[in-house]
Amino acid sequence: MKRVAKTEITWEIYGSLGEMEEKDKELMQMARNACDNAYAPYSEFFVGAAVRLSDGRVEIGSNQENAAYPSGLCAERVALFGISARLGDVEVETIAVAARRSAPDSFVPVTPCGSCRQVMAEYEFRQEKPIRIIMEREDEEMLVSSSVADLLPLGFSKKSL
Ligand code: THU
Repeated sequence: MKRVAKTEITWEIYGSLGEMEEKDKELMQMARNACDNAYAPYSEFFVGAAVRLSDGRVEIGSNQENAAYPSGLCAERVALFGISARLGDVEVETIAVAARRSAPDSFVPVTPCGSCRQVMAEYEFRQEKPIRIIMEREDEEMLVSSSVADLLPLGFSKKSL
């Protein structure tokens, strides 16, 4: 017999960057600054990610494109893979993502792409502790999701292997 299932996800909405608590505000500001190091001559969409580790350290990443388009990588994965490569098995607390087009200081909405959600899910799974994600939405609103699992319902994980 056919059944229908429903998944509900929740996120916090802040009216502006200023409404968020100091730590989150700072992290989003670092993500915004990280856009400056993006190499995005093809899309002209400059993305920055700032990752706060549980020990308080913050690491950044930005999208790095390539003439062979699929060889480029998103800001979130550049940041996360860089952290693992340099620092090893550390715990991630929060990831902030920001984006702008060619014009500096004018930020646009961005949410992590599916591949980045998949990679974030691996980190969350691995550390057995939820990772918060801060994203910018329309009208300068900020969204905060309390886990990657919420952003990737029915996701694939090592449980299936
Ligand atoms: N991009 C990111 O860096 N992160 C995302 O979550 C979405 C997309 C980059 C990839 C590409 O360099 C550019 O934005 C346009 O898709």
